Amino acid sequence: MTATVSALGYLGIGASDLEAWRGYATEALGLACSERDGALLLRMDDAPWRIRIEQSDADDLSYAGFEVSSPEALAEISERLKMMDVQISAGSEEERAVRGVAALARCADPNGIAIELYCGRASADDAFVSPRGLTFITGAQGLGHIVLMVDEESASRRFYEEGLGFKVSDTITMGKPPQSLELTFLHCNTRHHTVALAPVPGLPKRLNHIMLQVDSLDVVGKTFDLIRDREIPVSMELGKHTNDYMTSFYMQTPSGFDIEFGFGARTVDDATWEVGHYDSGSEWGHRAPAET
Ligand SMILES: [Fe+2]
Repeated sequence: MTATVSALGYLGIGASDLEAWRGYATEALGLACSERDGALLLRMDDAPWRIRIEQSDADDLSYAGFEVSSPEALAEISERLKMMDVQISAGSEEERAVRGVAALARCADPNGIAIELYCGRASADDAFVSPRGLTFITGAQGLGHIVLMVDEESASRRFYEEGLGFKVSDTITMGKPPQSLELTFLHCNTRHHTVALAPVPGLPKRLNHIMLQVDSLDVVGKTFDLIRDREIPVSMELGKHTNDYMTSFYMQTPSGFDIEFGFGARTVDDATWEVGHYDSGSEWGHRAPAET
């Protein structure tokens, strides 16, 4: 069987305001936050951390770490990437220690986004305790999903599909011509999409949003109330997506990109899944606040 990545395991974010992130992550998102080596480590489950916030003026994604099942799978995917002329190198001992992984390989996607492949990540020694008492849907589905703004869709699709082994879930044409945009949604486990690609060339920042999924619609609603009470900017109000059926809203992070906070997405079974196409992103809602 061809080796593929199995989940999105962690994200590195370069952020200019770590103190703002500390309050936002704990009080709004309900993530546990600790500090080590000058970086914030955000937890949402039994993994040692899922998001590492590092001091930087970039305010963007620094790296995305994808789990693979074994050292053999890591070697196979690395070989495949080399055949595609992707430069890939082993992570340093320090990089492995920071991430808590046994093996690590690093490369860049066609947009220059640092992509890491790893295996052998141990769980944290202590149990995850959310400051807001929340439970996140993670496990085999990974930490959530990311939407990336990419220069050239065909090169990016080749990297993620042929290189990492993602499969297309569906596509959505957003907006009306000439401003329309076709997004491609890709899965590597039962989560409907772990990566989505939006062809918006030449942008200085690559990360559109990170999606975190909770286990209850009430938590989504209560979080929506909470962030409005705290005057955290809402980018899109409550709505339900056409393709993954997620009921969610979007809020701005201290770094400017968004967090999608959602519940109730459907999952993908590769044995029966048929690739779909949609001409709108949402069945209802997801309006900009000014539209309400
Ligand atoms: Fe999303």
